[in-house]
Amino acid sequence: MENLKSQITELKNKKNAIILAHYYVADEIQDIADFVGDSLELSRKASLTEADIIVFAGVHFMAETAKILSPQKKVLIPDIKSGCPLADSMGTSEFAKFKEKYPDYFVINYVNSTAEIKAMSDLICTSSNAVELVKSLPSGTKILFGPDKNLGSFVKSFVKNEIILWNGNCPVHENFSANKLQDLKNANPDAIVLAHPEANKAVLLKSDIIGSTSKLLKYAIESENKKFIIATEPGIIHKMKQNDPNKEYIPLPPVQNLAESICFNMKKHTLQKVYDALKYEQFEILMDEDLIKKAKVPITRMIDLSVKLGLVK
Ligand code: 13P
Ligand code: SF4
Repeated sequence: MENLKSQITELKNKKNAIILAHYYVADEIQDIADFVGDSLELSRKASLTEADIIVFAGVHFMAETAKILSPQKKVLIPDIKSGCPLADSMGTSEFAKFKEKYPDYFVINYVNSTAEIKAMSDLICTSSNAVELVKSLPSGTKILFGPDKNLGSFVKSFVKNEIILWNGNCPVHENFSANKLQDLKNANPDAIVLAHPEANKAVLLKSDIIGSTSKLLKYAIESENKKFIIATEPGIIHKMKQNDPNKEYIPLPPVQNLAESICFNMKKHTLQKVYDALKYEQFEILMDEDLIKKAKVPITRMIDLSVKLGLVK
């Protein structure tokens, strides 16, 4: 493995490439990445990098967002089949019909959506900025929000705006078990529950801190507490442990008879595939220019607003 890692570094330097990775990918990929972050931070990095090639170890919509923000760069995804079922569940024709029913509504879609859906949106949000972005809109703005209903309900709990939700969810977070969370809380009364807003409502109601992957990581790092129950994909525990191996991080299991709720799409990337991506410059994200132009508008609006609100540098 060490040999493969040094070959990756060599190729990366030779080709002026950067490796961006999400917290849910395999530990060894996080370890060789130039930057690991949440969706907002990763899209910001992609828009600012001076590298010629971006290898994106994340799901397809993340690599696609990087391409939209840096169309002149070559964006590669190590496993082309690494999709996001939440993003893929929102079809353009169904969404067009939904929009037609609410013609005067402002359309906010979660970054976990396809480029085609982004092109049909007024504003994109991520889990780290959704609440603040909605709060920054003129009061009384009526909103259509998709595709994640759990994140949408979470946002709704902070504002008075009328928000109509698309009925989508992430299977990894929707399937977390609130009963198992209660059992874990009973057995570990000293643990703080950290949850991603994609988690189902019953779980969120039993959680202490709710936020993006980066927010949860930051909380675990800065907290004096020694024990945490993690209600998001357990890939995040790698960075938590690296920061403080003496704290305890307990992954919340799903309702099924499994120890953890895994995002198998994120885990499709391997070190070998990252190496192959760099060596053979595969699999390239290629997009229609017109689609890039249209999808870029609401993403750029999100980044500009997030910078203005101090949510990202
Ligand atoms: P974050 O933006 O919080 O990293 O979330 C991305 C994601 O896909 C969560 O399932
Ligand atoms: Fe998509 Fe869920 Fe995986 Fe996040 S955890 S990438 S929302 S399937």
